[in-house]
Parts: sequence; C-alpha cells; structure tokens
Amino acid sequence: MRRQELRGQVAIVTGASSGVGWQAARRLAEAGMKLCVTARTAEALEWLANEIRQRGGECLVVPGDVTVQEDVERVVAECVARFGRVDMLVNNAGVQSYGAFDALPWEHITRILDVNCLGFMRFARAVMPHFRRQGSGHVLNVQSMLSKGAAPLLSAYTASKHATLGWAKSLQLELSGTGISVSNILVPSVDTNMFAHAPTLLSRAPQPVPPTYDVDVVARSIVAAARRPGKTRVPVFLQGWLILAMDTLAPWAGDWVLGRFGVRMQQRETSVHRPEGNLFKPMAGTFGPRGPVPPTPGWLRYSATAGLAVLAGGVVLGMAGLSRAVR
Ligand SMILES: NC(=O)c1ccc[n+]([C@@H]2O[C@H](COP(=O)([O-])OP(=O)(O)OC[C@H]3O[C@@H](n4cnc5c(N)ncnc54)[C@H](OP(=O)(O)O)[C@@H]3O)[C@@H](O)[C@H]2O)c1
Repeated sequence: MRRQELRGQVAIVTGASSGVGWQAARRLAEAGMKLCVTARTAEALEWLANEIRQRGGECLVVPGDVTVQEDVERVVAECVARFGRVDMLVNNAGVQSYGAFDALPWEHITRILDVNCLGFMRFARAVMPHFRRQGSGHVLNVQSMLSKGAAPLLSAYTASKHATLGWAKSLQLELSGTGISVSNILVPSVDTNMFAHAPTLLSRAPQPVPPTYDVDVVARSIVAAARRPGKTRVPVFLQGWLILAMDTLAPWAGDWVLGRFGVRMQQRETSVHRPEGNLFKPMAGTFGPRGPVPPTPGWLRYSATAGLAVLAGGVVLGMAGLSRAVR
C-alpha cells in the first residue's frame, strides 16, 4: 500500500488514559493527526488532550467503556460530529488478571474477553459504516506477542489476544479490495502501568516477562502502521522476530523456559494485595505512559539476543546435520 499522509486525518484511540494508548496518541498528534481519545478516566484523558493542544494538536475527549455498546457508539458519533470523518481506529484498551486458570474468578475471565476481544469488535463495527461510506479507513489492533505465544498465569488474557488476532486476520480478508485496511502490532513487554493495574491472585506484584521495552517503541510502530497500513508488525527483534523464529524452529525451548520459570519471572519482590485491579473500574492516580517497571537495559538485551541467536543457529545446524545423517 502507498504511504499515507497523516496530516489532517482523524484517529480514535481507545485506552488512551494510560500506557500504549497515551504514547500512541502523542505520537499520532505529532504526525499531524486529529485525535479522539477515549477510556473510562476522564481526568487522565483531559490531561493528555491539554498536552496535545499545547503542542498545537487537536484532541477531542470522549470518556467511555469499551464494554458498553452505547458508549462505543457515542465515541464514534461525537468524533464524526466534531471532525466530519474518522480515518483510523486504534483498538488498544486492554486488561489482564494474574492467577492460575482454575483459581481465576469466572467474572475476571469473561471481563477480559469482553474488554480485549469484544471491545475491539464493538469499536470496529461502530466505525465500519463510516469507513464504507468513505471508501477508506484503517483498523489498527494493538495485539501482543501473546497473540501467538502463551504465558502461565495469563490464560484468559492469552485466549483473548489469540482470538482477537484471528478475528482481525479474518476481517482483513473480508475487506480486501474495499480500501479499508486492518493492521496488527505484536507488542512485546513494555514499561506501562498495565502491571500496576492488573488484578492478581498472588501476593507479589506482577511484572512483564523480560525483557521489557520502552513504550515509545510501540507508539512509533503504530505511527509507521498508520503510514503503511495492512500488515502485522513486530516492533522489536529479541522479544519479537527472534522469539517467533525460535517458536518455529524449537518450540520446546520457549515452553521449557516458561513452563519452568514463567511464574517466578512474572513476579517482583514487592508485596501486593490487588484482587480487583482495573477490571471493573479504573484505578485512580495511575495514568501517563509509563509504569513502575523500568525497561531492561540495552546491554542486557543485546547479550540475551546474542545468546539466543547462537542457540537458534545451533538448532538449525543440528537439524541440518540430523537430516543429512538420516538421508
Ligand atoms: N504493557 C505490555 O507489556 C503489553 C504487552 C503486550 C500487549 N499490550 C497491549 O497494549 C494495550 C494497552 O495496554 P497498556 O500496557 O497500555 O496497559 P494500561 O497502561 O493498563 O492501559 C490500559 C488502557 O485501557 C483502558 N481500559 C481498560 N479497561 C477499559 C474499559 N472497560 N473501557 C475502556 N477503556 C478501558 C484503560 O483506561 P481506563 O482505566 O481509564 O478505562 C487504559 O487507558 C492492551 O491491549 C495490551 O493488551 C501491552
């Protein structure tokens, strides 16, 4: 697809009160897009909108809950009433809950699917009549490396992300030739407040599966996807391309590491009691793009990359040797 000129185009960003959504809204505004930002926390959205306006951008705030159909329709209607059109939907609002599958309250499981999966679908259906009328539009879905892989303690979240990627790919095929594009970003662990928001049934504070990246890596990938829509993007190498390659070449390696150490890897030393987190209502005072877990230092990421690349190379050579021996 040809490079899109973003200046003057209109984007709705869901989950913009925090993390990826916040940083993506900033970057899209810098690229010249007019924004409609939504989430449940109006105060945080106003804060973000003021920042964007002070830098010369245009930003409309429409608070809402992605699980409430009327809210979703209202966000899209107010966006179109203000800007006259909508060119891109950044489907981003997401939640997770930490705990063993059989210990997770059923309402956590259904809520995660409702926000992460049905929330994306609700918004896509609400913008679609406008996209079809315009003969153009872009649904950009903030996915996860867990849209392809898996992690212990996050079974419902993983299910929601796999489902959403399947839905998005199907939608992309359906919309072929209509001028409407669908993109996905396979997000690695990033330093947002998601880990301070998520409920946990464990007594230790959750943390992302390392390595953790700066959230701006994802925001820049979202801008790149806005310019060239229609692809599934992998923004980083180590917890991105290399992991996907390892999963194809030697799936047992990742399964062994995560099966053995995955539970421990996802917990910090800090104690916590947070059985509800932000699932059913937003958590006060934790907005902004970044959270409590800092990104992994570059030198550590590069060393791990080198180690894994050697392992992947060894597996390829071993498999080549084995197939020669068998012949
Ligand atoms: N952080 C990571 O390591 C990581 C990794 C892979 C993928 N992702 C994906 O990135 C996306 C954003 O996550 P994040 O890291 O930025 O998390 P975050 O900082 O916790 O932000 C989540 C956003 O979703 C909104 N939200 C939650 N429930 C909502 C609801 N019912 N209705 C409307 N908005 C709701 C929250 O706002 P309110 O509470 O104000 O409603 C907030 O703005 C998610 O789709 C997540 O799956 C993140």
